[in-house]
Amino acid sequence: MNRGENRPRPLEIIERRDPPTSSINDSIVTLTAIGAGAFALLFAVSLLAGGPVQLYGGALAAALMLLAVAVRRFFTGRYPDVTAVEPRDEPATGGAGVSVADVEPVSPRRSFLTRALIAATGLLGLSLLAPVASLGPSPGDTLRRTKWARGVRLVTGEGDPVRPADVATGGLASIWPEKGIGHERSSVLLIRLQQPPGSPTRIEWVVDDLVAYSKVCTHAGCPVALYRERDNALFCPCHQSTFDPARGAQPTFGPAARSLPQLPLGLDGEGYLVALGDFEAQVGPALPRG
Ligand code: FES
Repeated sequence: MNRGENRPRPLEIIERRDPPTSSINDSIVTLTAIGAGAFALLFAVSLLAGGPVQLYGGALAAALMLLAVAVRRFFTGRYPDVTAVEPRDEPATGGAGVSVADVEPVSPRRSFLTRALIAATGLLGLSLLAPVASLGPSPGDTLRRTKWARGVRLVTGEGDPVRPADVATGGLASIWPEKGIGHERSSVLLIRLQQPPGSPTRIEWVVDDLVAYSKVCTHAGCPVALYRERDNALFCPCHQSTFDPARGAQPTFGPAARSLPQLPLGLDGEGYLVALGDFEAQVGPALPRG
C-alpha cells in the first residue's frame, strides 16, 4: 500500500462567507470582557472583605455569564461560514485528521479583543483563588476551651452570683461563668440532686448535692434544656438523648455516646459557688484530634 494513501487531504472549500466586520460585535466583546473582569475583581474583594454572600455570589455569577457572552461573540465574529468537502478516491482513503481547524480565521484584526478576553479570563482565574484565604488561620485549641477557670464564680443570666441555698432540692438552674454570660460552650446546668450521686460522678466536685454539667449536648451540640424530676433525667430535645445526672450524666437513651462533662465545683470565701477549673473533658460533639 502506498504510504501516502492514508494521509489527510486538504478540504476543498466550496464556499466561504467571512463575517462582516462589525464594530457593534467588537464593542459587545470588549464591554462584556471588561465587565467580566470587573465583576471578577468585585467577587474577590467582597469575599476577602467578608461581604454578604449575595454580593460575592452574584458577582461571580455575573463574571461567568459575561465571559461566556464575550467568548461566544468573539468566535462568532472571527470564523467564516464555510461549505467544504473532503476529497475521496475509490476506495475510501480514510481521511483521519481532516478537520475544520484547517479553516483559517478571518484576518487577525481582533488582536485587541483577544487580549481583552485573555485579561478577563486571567482576572477571573485569579479571583477564584480568593476563597483560599478563608482556609486559615487554624482555630488551634480554642474550640476545646471554655470560659471556666479556677475561682470563676457561677452566675445567673442576670449576672447574680449563686449560693448553694439558691437551688431547691430537685431544682435546676442555667448558669454562666462570671465573665462569659452568653458564651454558649460555657453554659452549665446546676442541679440539686434528690439523693447523693454515685459513680462515675466526681464526688469531690459536688457541693451540697449540687452538681454542674455542661449544657451542650455531646451528640450534635443542642442545649440540654430539660430536666425530668420524676425520673431524674436530663433531656435533649433535638434527638431525645437522655442523661443521668446522678451517674456522671452518662447517656441512658438516644444517639449521644458521651457523658455531659462535669464542672468541678467549690465555694469561695464568701460562700458563693465557683469553678475549680475548666471541664476536664471536651464540651459538645467530639472534635477531630489535632
Ligand atoms: S443534639 Fe442532643 S440528642 Fe442530638
